[in-house]
Amino acid sequence: MNSVKVGLLGLGTVGSGTVNLLTRNSDEITRRAGRGISIVHAAARHLDRARNCSTEGITLTNDPFEVVDNPELEVIVELIGGEEPARELVLRAIDSGKHVVTANKALIAKHGNEIFEHARERGVTVAFEAAVAGGIPIIKAIREGLTGNRIEWLAGIINGTANFILTEMFYEQRDFAEVLAEAQRLGYAEADPTFDIEGVDAAHKLTILASIAFGIPLQFDKVHVEGISHITRDDVEYAEELGYRIKHLGICRHHGSGNGIVLRVHPTLLPSRQLLANVNGVMNAVMVSGDAVGSTLYYGPGAGSEPTASAVVADLVDVVREFNLEPENRVPYLAFQSHALSDETVLAIGAVETAYYLRMQALDEPGVLADVTRILGNFGISIEAILQKQPAPEADHVPVILLTHRVKESQMNQAIEQIEALGSIQGRVTRIRVENLE
Ligand code: HSE
Repeated sequence: MNSVKVGLLGLGTVGSGTVNLLTRNSDEITRRAGRGISIVHAAARHLDRARNCSTEGITLTNDPFEVVDNPELEVIVELIGGEEPARELVLRAIDSGKHVVTANKALIAKHGNEIFEHARERGVTVAFEAAVAGGIPIIKAIREGLTGNRIEWLAGIINGTANFILTEMFYEQRDFAEVLAEAQRLGYAEADPTFDIEGVDAAHKLTILASIAFGIPLQFDKVHVEGISHITRDDVEYAEELGYRIKHLGICRHHGSGNGIVLRVHPTLLPSRQLLANVNGVMNAVMVSGDAVGSTLYYGPGAGSEPTASAVVADLVDVVREFNLEPENRVPYLAFQSHALSDETVLAIGAVETAYYLRMQALDEPGVLADVTRILGNFGISIEAILQKQPAPEADHVPVILLTHRVKESQMNQAIEQIEALGSIQGRVTRIRVENLE
């Protein structure tokens, strides 16, 4: 049987990894897919740039629409990233009856509802395993392996660059700019690295995971997003003293009476003995808790050329295997067919209940701590530990760190507002949520 002809949009880090992997493992891939898979047409922004893969046998162009419009192709692999023109290209590929494999998390998180509607109408598949957690087959794990479970919660380190920066900066004492430059050189960071540092990339991925786990429409605008830029070396040290590690997590779980989910991305204190607390460098890990299976953990490289290509090729093989199936009988791309969506509400972050790490700069005078603990007491917030550190030379304020028991976010917001209004407290209170994921 002839090979399946594939068009590739983007010949950068992941694109070249995909070409190399398809070439190197071509025998295994053909055996597993039932047909050979050949990239025959590819679009790259700069045609004369040196590449990390051979382009022999591939027609190159700098016009991605030429690839999408090629009637000989059965599948388009979209690896150019960003929202536009990726959205237009993917819709055009679908509307002309081509299957699509993409690693584009921003595209799926923000335009996935529209894209899957088009795919359903045309009876084609849009596969996106590489969009979340790089080489970890987390989408297949939830969608297929855990499909008998009611998913209770999931939490993960889903941005390799932020985890790499947190690990290297705080545990190896390296400089922020140097670590970020290394992440960019290794092809981990986004084109705009503030997406990594401020949590936007993780929020894209969490939106997709939540949709698959809970069967809800993709709702990126409902994710509470905080990055790592306000975390200091001191926070890492104080947290360690209290028995915790700081990790940047994406979390979604049911809250309240059960008909509500909160999606949130923020730095989190985790007990230092827990597995997630020990996931370092560019590695990603996702914990998923199901009512039947209990807690499960998926660990692996979350970014990079061949780890991400591994997921792209897995999707290509799936798509080719599905050529013989009617669309309605395929494993659905999200956890639902569009006529069977869950109406579970995505709640605002105020519904979340966690413990908190609070750090503030307080005047070193009698009664100051009493004022702070009185405010917390008034909101029913009980304190688990207090640290008071030495002031910096010449400073008249001292760092005070409090660890609280669990309380609703909305109550904590009011307490922090009153603490920040005290004349004896300087500046903002740093708040990091504490989770015990077991
Ligand atoms: N910038 C992303 C990360 C790449 O660092 O995780 C993989 O999605």
